[in-house]
Amino acid sequence: MAEIICIIGNKGGTGKTTLSHMLCQGMGLLGQRSVCVLTDTHREPLKPEGRRYLVADARTREALGKVVDKLRALPGWLGVIDGGGNRSEMDRKLYSLANLVLLPFRDSHEDMRTLISDLETFPRAWAIPSQWPTNPWQQEAAEKTLREHLGRHADRILQPVSALSASKLLLQKDIPAKLPTPLGNACRALAYQVLDMLEIACEAPADESEDEGEATGKNPSEAAAPSSAEAFDSPADTANRSSTRH
Ligand SMILES: Nc1ncnc2c1ncn2[C@@H]1O[C@H](COP(=O)(O)OP(=O)(O)O)[C@@H](O)[C@H]1O
Ligand SMILES: [Mg+2]
Repeated sequence: MAEIICIIGNKGGTGKTTLSHMLCQGMGLLGQRSVCVLTDTHREPLKPEGRRYLVADARTREALGKVVDKLRALPGWLGVIDGGGNRSEMDRKLYSLANLVLLPFRDSHEDMRTLISDLETFPRAWAIPSQWPTNPWQQEAAEKTLREHLGRHADRILQPVSALSASKLLLQKDIPAKLPTPLGNACRALAYQVLDMLEIACEAPADESEDEGEATGKNPSEAAAPSSAEAFDSPADTANRSSTRH
């Protein structure tokens, strides 16, 4: 059975879609097989070519049911469901079916207020700071705001995902053949944190330096990573392949 991770929260713009794709890309770079599941009816599916993960379109209730059933039948896979936002009923449904639930929030009072309410609604969920400042002064101010607003939930806050302009490349319909190294490193760090929470064994990622480059194609240390130039629409093939790859 696949592990299912949902990225939800009652507010738009917190980074749910970006984190879903970064997490899947990072899983792929760490040699894990993952599927990024789109549920947001305001977004179009992205092309799978060049990504380290598969993509699934689950914008209708029926399609979501099918994708989840398919994932359940795939041992060793990871499904990351991008919740879409502003849909309490959908968030509750995703929460109930997920093994791990993430609630992204930014360095803003409004995000933190919404987060507190979501943390109370979803007691198993973890908060993940997103688009976090990298400048030391801004970072210090953000951490102060976080302590003031979220102090009593401190044990449910994960390591932040930094603001990284290259992250938007993963949300392009077609992604460039070569992705910037800092993006790959951020994806790996996020995926490693999540795999650790799911108790999935994986070697700690070593950051690549700029000159090594971050190709989306294979490199020797990633030989086990899946080829992702396919959509998540062929259950029989996918299931067969997964059983032969272990
Ligand atoms: N880590 C990040 N660094 C920089 N920009 C980000 C990051 N995460 C998200 N963004 C930007 O913030 C905006 C909202 O992100 P998105 O993932 O679409 O949020 P949501 O899905 O929660 O509505 C987008 O413009 C996206 O490019
Ligand atoms: Mg979104």
